[in-house]
Amino acid sequence: MTRATLEKRPDDIARMFDAVAERYDRTNAVMTFGQERRWRRLVADALQLQAGETVLDLAAGTGASTLPFAQAGARAVACDFSLGMLTVGHRNHREVTFVAGDALKLPFRDEAFDAVTISFGLRNVADVATALAELARVTKPGGRLAVLETSHPPVKTLRRLNAIYTGHVMPVLARPFSSDPSAYAYLAESAGAWLDQDQLATALRQAGWGTVGWRNLLFGAVALHTGRRPG
Ligand SMILES: C[S@@+](CC[C@H](N)C(=O)[O-])C[C@H]1O[C@@H](n2cnc3c(N)ncnc32)[C@H](O)[C@@H]1O
Repeated sequence: MTRATLEKRPDDIARMFDAVAERYDRTNAVMTFGQERRWRRLVADALQLQAGETVLDLAAGTGASTLPFAQAGARAVACDFSLGMLTVGHRNHREVTFVAGDALKLPFRDEAFDAVTISFGLRNVADVATALAELARVTKPGGRLAVLETSHPPVKTLRRLNAIYTGHVMPVLARPFSSDPSAYAYLAESAGAWLDQDQLATALRQAGWGTVGWRNLLFGAVALHTGRRPG
């Protein structure tokens, strides 16, 4: 199988996630030492969802990142372009609506959602600015955004340790759990090359998001950025 590269060709990326879909949730739990559940709850808190509101979870994969929104009483829409991930999600989470779609051309009308979010997906899209602008387009004026993504610890020693973990430990840890360990080599590579907290905040502002801020999780190895669509 062709391994996805930092070129992030959509068909390579979708194929890679199709291949790991069945074991994705379990591998993820192992690699984040179970932390991902807490992070997902923090995303739901940041979005301040009210019952009956409509929320889009983009690059939702199997819907593990979407589930807390449905549990909070929102109408939760999970969108992704990997049919393998969507199939696993649809099988496991009937309370979530799964939609096939590309982040670069979302299949939704303007201002359709009260809140939008993307977890561990933005660094996989080929064109970050377009994805952020698409998210803004489908959000109501005043609507909320949350982006959960790997990042870079501000403290130098921790940054080095994190680079060792993602670059060397994570791909080895994933080996026994994942159906395609090479995918985890790509995920580690893309995490190393990804924007830091400030750079992502700038990208959000440039895409039209206001009130941008972030909080570091796990010493900054992960960051939760938030914003609002002006108006
Ligand atoms: C690491 S998974 C994250 C899944 C989920 N959000 C989570 O937190 O577990 C990244 C997801 O992004 C999706 N993805 C990447 N590029 C995409 C694009 N252009 N449009 C839609 N989905 C995309 C992949 O198919 C994959 O399911």
